[in-house]
Amino acid sequence: MADVQVYPDANSLARAAAEYFVTLAAEAITARGRFVVALSGGSTPRATYTLLASKEFAPRVDWSCVHVFWGDERCVLPGHPDSNYRLAREVLLDKIPIPADNIHRIRGELDPDQAAVAYQAELETVLGADGRFASRSQPPPRGRLDLILLGMGVDGHTASLFPGTAAIHEQTRWVVAHYVEKLGAWRVTLTPVAINGAAHVTFIVAGRGKAERLREVLAEPYQPDLLPAQIVRPADGRLRWLVDAAAATQWRKWAVTLS
Ligand code: 6PG
Repeated sequence: MADVQVYPDANSLARAAAEYFVTLAAEAITARGRFVVALSGGSTPRATYTLLASKEFAPRVDWSCVHVFWGDERCVLPGHPDSNYRLAREVLLDKIPIPADNIHRIRGELDPDQAAVAYQAELETVLGADGRFASRSQPPPRGRLDLILLGMGVDGHTASLFPGTAAIHEQTRWVVAHYVEKLGAWRVTLTPVAINGAAHVTFIVAGRGKAERLREVLAEPYQPDLLPAQIVRPADGRLRWLVDAAAATQWRKWAVTLS
């Protein structure tokens, strides 16, 4: 049974996501001295990132112990309006005392394959610390992302795992670059190997436009080529869906509506 929390509106959803981020950060920093998070791209998380940068939330996180990655990136310059890094930088990263070295963006300006290789190397360096890995395909026992925030597109994609793409079934690499036909664009994305190795994977989904797809992802048979968000099944991490009531309209029976 999926762990789905339904919130009345986009604002209460954003607050819940920010609270969850702060809680997980405190737990990770207390336990391991750091919090390694991969931010979601897209527009939904903007409200959450804005709250995290606010006077109400920012002081509750020891940003000096936080490492920020991304779940995916468009292959554009870091200042491009489509850049996921740019969004997070503008609404969050420029407003909090996080060390520049702790910001690990996907370098979308590079050749996509080179960007993917460089990003995986950076992930391994930060997560592995001592650089030892049992194997590339399995996150090391101690080295894994503490939290991955994900969105879901109206077509059921997540990160840049789009329907019908081979990246959905990547078994070895943590990061791949691929040309997404339906977008006519290159993307760099975490693969299910990295995503499903995380300690916490949290979707943030809002809006009536996603309601039917959300129902399909949560309630229809497993078909990740059609519904890539279904490939997200953390090996031993916790999967949570934080959604607003508008996105949950087609999927009421298991939902727990919170005030
Ligand atoms: C991206 C994202 C992507 C996003 C979904 C939802 O780079 O676009 O990583 O997976 O999360 O497309 O996007 P919205 O939040 O804008 O609906």
